[in-house]
Amino acid sequence: MFIKEILLGFFIIFIVRLVWKWKRFFYLASKIPKSQFDFSWQGVKDAFNADNRMIFKMIYESFDGVNGLAKTWLGPMLFVIISSPEDVKIVMNSKECLDKPYFIRFPGPVLKGTLFGDIEFWHKHRKILDPYFGVQKLKRFIDLFDEKSKVLTKNVAKMLDQGDFDIFHYMTALTLETILNAMEFEIDIQNQESKVRDLTIEGLEIATKLVTQRIFRFYLHPEFIYRQTKMYVTETKAKAHSAFSYTDDVINNIRIKLKKNHDEVEEDKPTTFMRALVSSKFNLDESEIRDEVKTLLIAAQDTTAISMSATLLLLAMHKDKQAKVIDEMHRVIGNNPDIPFTDFDKLNELHYLEMVINEALRLMPVVPFVFRSVDSEITSHEGYIIPPNANLIIPIFKIQRNKTFWGEDANKFRPERFEKENIKKVNSYAFLPFTKGPRICLGWRYAMMLMKIQLCNFLMRYEVDTSLKYEELEFELNVTLNICQGFKISIKERKER
Ligand code: HEM
Repeated sequence: MFIKEILLGFFIIFIVRLVWKWKRFFYLASKIPKSQFDFSWQGVKDAFNADNRMIFKMIYESFDGVNGLAKTWLGPMLFVIISSPEDVKIVMNSKECLDKPYFIRFPGPVLKGTLFGDIEFWHKHRKILDPYFGVQKLKRFIDLFDEKSKVLTKNVAKMLDQGDFDIFHYMTALTLETILNAMEFEIDIQNQESKVRDLTIEGLEIATKLVTQRIFRFYLHPEFIYRQTKMYVTETKAKAHSAFSYTDDVINNIRIKLKKNHDEVEEDKPTTFMRALVSSKFNLDESEIRDEVKTLLIAAQDTTAISMSATLLLLAMHKDKQAKVIDEMHRVIGNNPDIPFTDFDKLNELHYLEMVINEALRLMPVVPFVFRSVDSEITSHEGYIIPPNANLIIPIFKIQRNKTFWGEDANKFRPERFEKENIKKVNSYAFLPFTKGPRICLGWRYAMMLMKIQLCNFLMRYEVDTSLKYEELEFELNVTLNICQGFKISIKERKER
């Protein structure tokens, strides 16, 4: 009798707490201003049929007119758009919103990696990996980046004077080969027979397109339903051919290498991120190592390839800026395209090139939106309280083109806005290509170094042009941001050396 009463008491407390929690959730949600775009049931219905270009457009439009905080519903899910740099700062640095919504984990199976893993894995892995992505540790890859960039520059020579071609496929072969080599797995992707190479590259492209569509088709969220679909079969096949297919070989290779060398020092103080992952010092289990390797492969491949392709495309569209980049390169490193571009200090002196890359990352941020989920209530800078279980969207693409923060010419390609004097007038949380705070991109220094070296190699040898017009570019969302027309450039031998 007594036990029954206690159980009933607990049950009543549970129900009261549940009711209170959801009552408060809807109450706090009701106080947040509505976004102009109704993304509720009609939005969901439209999203069911949308292709990746439409998906980008729909999300993009849902941010129109939003300058502070605004809410929108995707079916039963509350999304709060965080669009002012002040609120971005709160969110990016808050312990209450380090985690990401469940649908971000759809690109699995990488559930125990830094990018998509739950917060427990994230803490553990980030702590292990962070020291290996600092400047001093990354400097060891400079020669590798230069050697691989020179292979691309040589391979692309067959396109000389051939008119427009999509540079992205060359870039993505380079970025995949480079990250695999950085993991000490010697493989030649750039010179592989094109069918094998294309399959690897397309694998990731197909998979990311499908993942994006799944996020917007609610009924496909439950795993047991998704697994019955054709999309799942295609995605699984695509992933099997993608960069993921190298995972086991990469891990076995490093283990054999360390065993052969009886490398106890490496066990105790691993020198690279790959050695750290397999070292017994950090005690990662087999599935954690596999997921982290996969995570690094996908995080490093498309992102850097798209950003380098976008930079070249924008320079092809803006010849005056291209001339300035070349002037600076000649002044700082000379005019011989065959020399190694491996002097770290000289690379650091290429200020204009860095401004160009930043401007490309501003206009075409490869990750156009990031998501967070809220663990406990947080307060915006205007005093709105965002309830736990809300999903936050940070529309990087929109923030980085907002005229309030970037001026009337926000949509124009003008690298000079990153000059010291100019950029200090802009709130630093309005420029977020790698985001900020504890979840800032792990590989941002790696990416910047590779991009600089690659662009030096490429631009020193080739003059780039394009028939595409900046104003006509259309975007699509494949997890990352892509250009529907492709990154079409043409190349000529550079004469003015
Ligand atoms: C231009 C190239 C790149 C861009 C624009 C980029 C951008 C981003 C962005 C926006 C995020 C999400 C951060 C957040 O949720 O707040 C991210 C996360 C991440 N990136 Fe990158 N990334 C690039 C290259 C790389 C490279 C080369 C690597 C690895 C070598 C890498 C590894 C990661 C990892 C592991 C995460 C997860 C970090 C975490 O959640 O703690 N990225 N990146």
